[in-house]
Amino acid sequence: RMMKRQIQCRSDLGRLNAPFLAIYESLIPAEEEKAKQKQLLTLLERLVCTEWPKARLYLYGSCANSFGVSKSDIDVCLAIEDMDVNKSEIILRLADIFQSDNLQNVQALTRARVPIVKLMDPVTGLSCDICINNILAVVNTKLLRDYALIDARLRQLAFIVKHWAKSRGVNETYQGTLSSYAYVIMCIHFLQQRRPAILPCLQEMETTFSATVEGVECAFFDQVEKLRDFGSCNNETMSQLVWAFFNYWAYHHDYANSVISIRTRNIISKQGKDWTRRIGNDRHLICIEDPFQVSHDLGRVVDKYSIKVLREEFERAADIMQYDPNPCGKLFEPY
Ligand code: GTP
Ligand code: MG
Repeated sequence: RMMKRQIQCRSDLGRLNAPFLAIYESLIPAEEEKAKQKQLLTLLERLVCTEWPKARLYLYGSCANSFGVSKSDIDVCLAIEDMDVNKSEIILRLADIFQSDNLQNVQALTRARVPIVKLMDPVTGLSCDICINNILAVVNTKLLRDYALIDARLRQLAFIVKHWAKSRGVNETYQGTLSSYAYVIMCIHFLQQRRPAILPCLQEMETTFSATVEGVECAFFDQVEKLRDFGSCNNETMSQLVWAFFNYWAYHHDYANSVISIRTRNIISKQGKDWTRRIGNDRHLICIEDPFQVSHDLGRVVDKYSIKVLREEFERAADIMQYDPNPCGKLFEPY
């Protein structure tokens, strides 16, 4: 199936740039949403610090990595120094604290893979999930945000891809399709691979930021204000990139042998990572390496049924981008 088609892109892609930009702009959260997020974070900080004075709260995920669309829930991480804390106990205690402060829909999910407390703040109308000591997520949030500051086309492409994935029902990890986090990594990798490259590989550059988290060394170049011109030799537009992104995942990615990785400038082999067969529940049918937890395949949730769904959706999107007179309508059609 790979290399089934080696097609030339349609000649009128330029005309499609404005409609894609308009969709991107309609998805950007308003400034007042940012203000509400800050307001809720301040409230939570006040509540948490009366119980644990040394604790800190960090925003992570789409509310902090700049890939969040309007009206997203917010993800918060509570960092408590003492590493032998019993997470379930803290979750239950947090739920008590929030309940007595009139926050709504407070739920303690202590049995989840990542235990969390959920709540809704009636003042801002925001819903929020709070987890404990998930510092790797805070650090990978910073990496994604730093990449977004280098070239505006990353945020544009990722918004379109996430919007497509949500519309088409392929952003559901519990149904075997990919997380938003995985899609953003796919976009970063794709822009690193353009020639000339649109994004650098921050983890292969001089270390200006480093943190050791759960034994994992996280190091990269974070002085991204010095990289603002990085992609300027490449003048591809948003519609060309959307076309090429779907064409890559539909017809060019080597699902049998390749792992995509933003940690290195190269595509790496499944063989080298021993990701060629199913181990436990990890089937490695589409391989996306986590930038820091390199033994972690973000595609591990994909199974033999959902890989088919996913690849058919990539092909559908690629074909719409190639042939449809009005791709912006069709691409995001609810499934
Ligand atoms: P939306 O909520 O869909 O807008 O996107 P999101 O950016 O919040 O993404 P998602 O809910 O997929 O993940 C939230 C955050 O959790 C990500 O930004 C990561 O920091 C972290 N995360 C999610 N999945 C993984 C994973 O498999 N491994 C690691 N290390 N972190 C993850
Ligand atoms: Mg989220």
